[in-house]
Amino acid sequence: MNELIEKLKKQFDEKLAEVSDENSLEKLRLDFLSKKGQISGLMKELAKVPNEKKKEYGQMINTFKQELTEQFDARREELLKKQEELLIRMTESYDESLPTGNPCGSYHPITLVQRELEDIFESMGFNVEDYNEIVDDYHCFEALNIPKFHPARDMQDTYYLTTPNQLLKSHTSAAQNAILKKYGPALKESGRPIRAVFPGRCFRNEAIDASHENTFFQMEGIMVDKDISVSNLIYFMKTMLSEVFGREVTVRLRPGFFPFVEPGFELDIKCLICGGSGCSSCKNSGWLELCPCGMIHPNVLKYGGINTEEDPYEYTGFAFGLGLTRLAMMKYGVGDIRAFNSGDLNVLSQFVSR
Ligand code: PHE
Repeated sequence: MNELIEKLKKQFDEKLAEVSDENSLEKLRLDFLSKKGQISGLMKELAKVPNEKKKEYGQMINTFKQELTEQFDARREELLKKQEELLIRMTESYDESLPTGNPCGSYHPITLVQRELEDIFESMGFNVEDYNEIVDDYHCFEALNIPKFHPARDMQDTYYLTTPNQLLKSHTSAAQNAILKKYGPALKESGRPIRAVFPGRCFRNEAIDASHENTFFQMEGIMVDKDISVSNLIYFMKTMLSEVFGREVTVRLRPGFFPFVEPGFELDIKCLICGGSGCSSCKNSGWLELCPCGMIHPNVLKYGGINTEEDPYEYTGFAFGLGLTRLAMMKYGVGDIRAFNSGDLNVLSQFVSR
């Protein structure tokens, strides 16, 4: 019996030394200390020894079992402690207040310009509206007085989805109809003028070069009320642009054609760099072409549910389409439009709001 115990002890010690985790510890317990383990096996051997030896051997086995159990428990404690220490070390090594060494993100220049404009318009009582990038032919064209096969569609060739009648909007004007319908009732019921701006990503089938992109941003605005005229448009545009550029700007209007405005204009501002005497920024003309605009066409107001056939001029309004991407180029002096969609952080992380 002594020998047997010795042999088992040696085995146990060896295995215990190899134990490295909970699994191997459990295996050891099953092997030696469980009901079907080696110690229980020893108890079975006891049946074979002569009666007079039974007590002595029985005690030996019990003591042995106790020894192994103590060793086993000690080892388990040790393992648990190790695990805890590891856990503490892991949590200690994570300190969220420490600088990570990773550079901080920054806003895209177009986001900066967009937010700045939104603040300005909101301070003038405008609602900022969001609108889809995927629209249908009706909203992008028909509701804007651009019927099928109208030549004005040529300039706004865009991307058509395989889903019938779905396309990527070619200008933010695509939101006009929905916004007129949204705010029309309040205008008629309580005389609250419609004042809304709607920034958005636009798409056109465009050959890309330094000043043309197939994906760019605009911010459109409309104002509709009774007796809105071109003088309101001019005054408003001048005030708004002076705010945007942070100084007084001089504006001029030239005739421009867009089927959804009548009359339609191209609005220029006196070059902010040379003050009008001519420089490379304004191609020596003294003026910068900035923003198409005009009085909203009666058909557009009719389709938007604002006016009736009988009284097409009951309400009038103006619309303007600011090129956000162009504005960001001017504001930050970015010479190549491709920088904006490039994902090049060397370029894009340089801009901060004023
Ligand atoms: N939607 C026109 C364009 O993208 C711009 C515009 C907006 C013109 C509002 C007039 C009024 O070319």
